[in-house]
Amino acid sequence: MRVPTAISVEKRLAASPVPVPLSGKDLGAFRRALLRWYDHHRRDLPWRKTHDPYRIWLSEIMLQQTRVAAVLDHYRIFLERFPNVEALAAASEDAVLAAWSGLGYYRRARMLHQCAKELVEQHGGRFPQSAEVLRTLPGVGRYTAAAIASITFDEPIAVVDGNVERVLERLTGCDLKQPQTWQHAQSLLSASRPGDFNQSMMELGATVCLPRDPKCPTCPVRKWCVTQQSKITMERRASSPGGPPPTPSRQIKKEIWCELSQRDGHIRLVQRPRKSSLMPGMWELPPLSQKPHRTPLSAPWRTFRHSVTITNYTVHVRQSAAPTAKGKWIPVANIPHLPITGLTRKILKAASII
Ligand code: ADE
Repeated sequence: MRVPTAISVEKRLAASPVPVPLSGKDLGAFRRALLRWYDHHRRDLPWRKTHDPYRIWLSEIMLQQTRVAAVLDHYRIFLERFPNVEALAAASEDAVLAAWSGLGYYRRARMLHQCAKELVEQHGGRFPQSAEVLRTLPGVGRYTAAAIASITFDEPIAVVDGNVERVLERLTGCDLKQPQTWQHAQSLLSASRPGDFNQSMMELGATVCLPRDPKCPTCPVRKWCVTQQSKITMERRASSPGGPPPTPSRQIKKEIWCELSQRDGHIRLVQRPRKSSLMPGMWELPPLSQKPHRTPLSAPWRTFRHSVTITNYTVHVRQSAAPTAKGKWIPVANIPHLPITGLTRKILKAASII
């Protein structure tokens, strides 16, 4: 068993040599060990019970930059509303955004909708069966194309997300660059079970080979890992799907004020400009442009914390029977069909309005 000292591992990281992939018996044993572990220890997730490309595609898009726990409810509700690609293509963009509300990164929902329309108009509602053609679809990049092709069509093509990158860097002890990472993943891939193998690599990164506290004693492939137990945590690229959130130094703090008004089963909301760079066309509580003068006798306030990418908001909400900011009265019954922002959803839930 290769157990390097911390010094030898750091030297390799500094020099960044091209990794030598496993081969021969070692490679076969590595694949078997990982797949056996995956068969027994994988989390029971709804997208693991299907080979329907529509459902796999949806799960992969939702899982980008989003935790599994946050995806589960949205995935179920989205599929109830849009059970297949035709239903999604026929929906209005507002209905799609409403079902996506709370998941963030709304561009994903717009691209998903655009892609569904293209699949129906140009591919007869069927998914192309190769990663190469899948990649030509709106919002489908190298990662998503490889995930769909390997999981649903058994194409032997490797997937690399933030978790896989970390697993590979730990396995090899090398600070891998993009092309090397994909090549390395491809060289390890099991051709007989490519979808399961890809998911087992991602699952290992998500549950065992953790960024800060890897669970090396329970790792099924520790025998082949150069950095095992040394707990080296490499700096992650903030944009990697599945990677940890950006470091605190890059975080921005903002304070905002808004107004919550309710009357006869309606609440007051305002629509963001259609051309806004952030969440265009979505509905939210009317913002108060300036910090209001606060006295102990003024309207009741509640404070929320909310994060959007690298911005941490402190949000002060004034409950007010007589609205002062501009907006529209919207029936509460219509809210499930309206694209509201995640923050608005959070506040309306906390106020037991939805
Ligand atoms: N992260 C994103 N997609 C995944 C999948 N299919 N399995 C495990 N982790 C994932």
